[in-house]
Formats: sequence, C-alpha cells, structure tokens
Amino acid sequence: MSATYKRTLVTSALPYANGPVHIGHLAGCYLPSDIFVRYKRSKGEDVIFICGSDEHGVPITIKAKKEGISPQDVVDKYHKMMGDSFKEFGISFDVYSRTSNKIHHETASDFFKTLYDKGVFTEEMTEQYYDAEAKQFLADRYITGTCPKCANPNAYGDQCEKCGSTLSATELINPKSTLSGSKPVLKETKNWFLPLDKLQPKIQAYLDQHKDWKANVYGQCKSWLDSGDGLQPRAMTRDLDWGVPVPVKGAEGKVLYVWFDAPIGYISATKELKPKDWELYWKDKETRLIHFIGKDNIVFHCIIFPSMLMEHGEFILPDNVPANEFLNLEGDKISTSRNWAVWLHEYLIDFKDKQDVLRYTLCSNAPETKDNDFTWADFQTKNNSELVAILGNFVNRTLVLTHKYYNGAVPSAETYTKEDLLILEQLAAFPDKISAAIEQFKFREALAEMMNLARLGNKYLAETEPWKLIKTDETRVKTIMNIALQITCNLAIVSEPFLPFTSRKLFTMLNMPTLKWHAAKQTSNMASGHVINKDELLFAKIEDPEIQAQIDKLAASKSANTVTVIPPAKPETSFDDFSKMDIRTGTILEAERVPKTDKLLKLKIDTGIDTRTVVSGIAEWYKPEDIIGQQVSMLVNLAPRKIKGIESQGMILMAANSKGELSFIASTKPDFNNGSEIK
Ligand code: MF3
Ligand code: ZN
Repeated sequence: MSATYKRTLVTSALPYANGPVHIGHLAGCYLPSDIFVRYKRSKGEDVIFICGSDEHGVPITIKAKKEGISPQDVVDKYHKMMGDSFKEFGISFDVYSRTSNKIHHETASDFFKTLYDKGVFTEEMTEQYYDAEAKQFLADRYITGTCPKCANPNAYGDQCEKCGSTLSATELINPKSTLSGSKPVLKETKNWFLPLDKLQPKIQAYLDQHKDWKANVYGQCKSWLDSGDGLQPRAMTRDLDWGVPVPVKGAEGKVLYVWFDAPIGYISATKELKPKDWELYWKDKETRLIHFIGKDNIVFHCIIFPSMLMEHGEFILPDNVPANEFLNLEGDKISTSRNWAVWLHEYLIDFKDKQDVLRYTLCSNAPETKDNDFTWADFQTKNNSELVAILGNFVNRTLVLTHKYYNGAVPSAETYTKEDLLILEQLAAFPDKISAAIEQFKFREALAEMMNLARLGNKYLAETEPWKLIKTDETRVKTIMNIALQITCNLAIVSEPFLPFTSRKLFTMLNMPTLKWHAAKQTSNMASGHVINKDELLFAKIEDPEIQAQIDKLAASKSANTVTVIPPAKPETSFDDFSKMDIRTGTILEAERVPKTDKLLKLKIDTGIDTRTVVSGIAEWYKPEDIIGQQVSMLVNLAPRKIKGIESQGMILMAANSKGELSFIASTKPDFNNGSEIK
C-alpha cells in the first residue's frame, strides 16, 4: 500500500506539558515512532517526524493550581524538560513544537472558524456542572465521583481510569468538585458541538477502508461505533480560561476543547518545520499520514480528528494509527500522582550513556498487542544476557581479532566454503525481514530479528573458531574474519533505528561512514585493506547494586504514598458504659465463606463460656483455612443479629487501618485461656 505514497508524515502524540516523560510514554508511542522514522530515513524515503507539547487542557490548569503558579509557567517548565530529555534519549523529531505558540493559536482558530462558517457545528445550550463556591464551570476533569459502570469511586467526569469507560460528568454517582470539594450544581451554558452522530456513516465508511489497522485499534473503534446509540455529539468548546479562545461572537470566556486544538498542533508544527511546503504534507493525496499514540488516545485520532479533517475538506486523513497498549511498572499501573514511574530525565542521569539499554528493553517488551510489564530485573537481564552477551560479545570478538591478526586492516575473503555462502545468503536477507516487521508496526519482532543477526555472527565464530585455526590455516581465518566484519557492518546499519547510539559507535569503530538501509543487503561493505579504528566497549554489565538502587527508589514512592489517616478522637465515655461490654478472648474453631457474599465468613468460636456462631466481614483479609485456631477478642454480650439468614451471636473486634484493612487483635501470650476478660 505504501508503495503508492511519495512521502510519509509521522506524528507522535503531543504529550501534556504537565509533568516529565516516563517509560510508559516512551513505550506507548515515542520509541516506536522513532524506530519507524529512523528506518524510513535510512531507506532514503521522504519522511517528517512531528511532535510538540500539548499545552492546553484541564490537566495543565490543575497542575498550575496545585503548584500555585500560572499555567504558562507550568508549560514553560515541562516543555523544556520534555524536549531536552526526548532529545538526549535519541527521539529524533524533526520538530518539537508547542501548542501555546502563536502559529498554533492561529491555525487552530482558523480551523474552527472554517468549520463554523461551513455550519458544521451545532450550537447547544446544555447544563454543565458549576462550582458555586469557586464560581466557575467545571471541566470534566475537575469532577470526580463513582463510575456508573464499575463502581470505581475515583472516576473522572470524562473517563474512568479503572475500567476505561468514557463518561460524561452527569453520569457520575455522587459527583464532587475537585476545586472546592462541594457538590456541583447544573447551570446552563452555550457550546458548539461536533455532531458525531450525524457524521457516523462517513466515519463508518472511513473505518471500513482501514480493516488493516492493528486489531486493538480497529476493535476499539468498532466498539465505539457499535455500542448503544453509536456516536454522540461532542462539545468542541469549553467554559475555561486556558486555551485557544473560541473565535466567534458570543463565545467570550470560552476556549476550544483541548482535543480539538491539540491534533491541529500536528499541522501547526508542520508549518513551523516547513513554512513553505507544509501543505504538501497535509493536502497531497500522495502523503501517508501516520499517528503513533497510546491506547487512551484512539478515539480522538481514529474518530474525532478524522471527522474534523473530513468536515474541513482540505486535508488528507490518517492512513494508519498504530496505537500501543499500556506499559506497567513492576506489576503496577504507572501513575504520575503516586510517583510510580521511571522518569526519563532521572534515568538519563542514573544510567548515563545507556540510552540504548532502555530503548532495547522497552522495544523488546513493547505493549504492542496487550499491556506489558517493565521490571528492573528484566532490564538487567536484557542488558547482561542479550546486549552484552550477544551483540557486544560478537562485535568485541570480531574487532579484537581484527586488530590482533591484521593490525586493524580488513582481510580479504579468499575462498568461500559452502557454510560461508550460506551465512552470506542469510546475512543479505536480514534487512528485508526486519523491514517487513517494521512496516507492519511489529517492532518487537523487528528487534528480535536484528538480534538474530548478532546471534548468527556468534554462531559463525563459535563454529569456525578462528582463534584456533590461526595456528594452522591463516588463509581460512582471513575469510572468516572478513565475513565477521561484514556482519558487524550490517549490524551497524540495521541496528540504527533501534539502537542509534550503538550504531553510531559501530560505524565509528569500523571507521565507516553511516551506510543506508539498502547497503545491508550487500555482503561486501567492508573493503579489504580498509583500516578500522580502535575498539571500545559497546555495552557494560549492569551490576546488582545499580538495580537495587532503582528498586529501592520505587519502594520509597510506595511507602510515601501510603497516607495514614487517623480518625478523629471520639467524645468521652464513662467507665460504667465501658464496663457494660463483655469482651472475652476466644478461639476460632471453624470458618467458612457465607455463600453469595464477598466479604462475610461464618465462624464458630469457643468463647470459654460456650461455642458461638459469628458472621464477620473479614473475608477480604483472611482465608477461612488460615484462621482456624486463631485467637480473637470478641464482644460476647452484643444482642444477636441475623446476617444473610444466619444468627450472629457476637462480634469479633478488629483493628482497621487507614486503608480499610482489618487485623485480629489477640493476646500476645500463647495459651491464654478462652473466656479471659478484656478490661
Ligand atoms: N496530550 C495528549 C495525551 O497525552 C495527547 C494529545 S495528542 C494530540 O494523552 F493529537 F492531541 F496532539
Ligand atoms: Zn469504571
């Protein structure tokens, strides 16, 4: 399909400028897009790579409020930080722009005006949540409440991060304003809507042409279209004071919806990069537009933005949207607020000059078809057992022997054996295999193929053993070493998209100019007599203490986030009241789950006085089989109550911590007899 295109425009989701970049962002879209673009450049194709900071939207204003600074200060700080760390990590954007730029405000404003003049929008008075204490309309993100779909109590007004449902604020159960904590009230306001309901047939037709998209992407789009009543109109303007002002009369105090302006940022950034011929990239049918994103961005890039482009009329539509799923960290969802992340700027300090180790780990674990996990132990293994032991080892042996036997001059290949010819044939086939995987956005597979080339090299050396043969057959060794050097050179070429720093080092060590992709189909790039440079270590082993330090850092975030809330003290009580309670030690004799409940256990307890049945809500914390024989404290003179049809004759006393976890309180002395009074 791509054969009919003359050029490719690659975009990577504009990250919100409200925090630093972490590994989840990298694995989601920045690394795969960078690999793709570097590969295309190496093939000599016309490609541009667009990104920039998404500087509008409610998350920015929330961050500003939290830090007590202006939204502009927030975006200035993070725009610089993100841009710097992307660059140092080797993400090779042709432009890293920002949406607070003048050119972007103009572009987004004009785009809106065009749709407005064409009568695309519907104007609607709606009731929006309003915070009467803070005296402002509440963006969806400023409202939290219980998700109507999964009962997550911390869902946002636009989305539940637990079940992934898209919500509208009015669907939330028990809504609360995050500004004042008060219950928001509904108030009328006018906004402009994109009538996605009416556009659904067009979108359907567009998606029908793209059944080739990744299954996770196409599937999510389909479920949007097919669910319930299908697509719903969506407001493209918001009652907010941070963003691109709505360029029509009667819209004072309103701004463009961030998801309206942000994707237009791709266009503005292209204008910034190519002031003269940006239109070629956006309006010529021979341009292929590809959006790299994370899965939470799918609807915006596959449905809303294409609708905007279609309605505008002058622009091409995205040809592919290779979205990744999410990357978790050590088994837990990455979270900025809980500081559960590996921050790129910190990584770049802690692991100086090891960009490629992280690139390698993230690519080989990329969440391409399902969520995936990053662990530091795996990072260490990938470095020590793959980069050092396979790639580094092969290159090192080849270069060291070349210096040792030939003073660094490439020996000539004398006569090829049958095995040599087979190796050369395999060598020449690698670029196409890697290409095929990259073209299908299968970067893990592509990377694995690249490593297979290093494996091939290792196997070749292990089988031919030039270090032994050198004593008996110098001519044969020349051929072997020539082939090993050809493999090394081709590795320098095909590793470039994935491991650009390593590739650079390889070309330098080989004393070769940077060769392009097609050269890797040759098996004679290293001319005999060419003198290579001194070899240096490609990868160093990463030792346990370095990994432990990272694990400790994460553990610190975990404990810092365990906030302890101590309930306030209760009013005074009298000794008389207290002594009315008959509290005794007892032992659990039997325990079983109460059928059809999640929380309840039915216990049989020896109270010293008698044997009682008690129904207790501890099933979340204790398994029945683990608590037989457990000594407990129990209120024995509580009036019996029926719980789920079972008469409960007393109550076990439990300590409850701030997380709501329950724990038995029992005598610390063993053999304390049942029926002992607690007083
Ligand atoms: N800022 C958004 C996010 O981080 C992505 C915006 S992509 C764009 O999820 F298309 F809107 F630019
Ligand atoms: Zn939910």
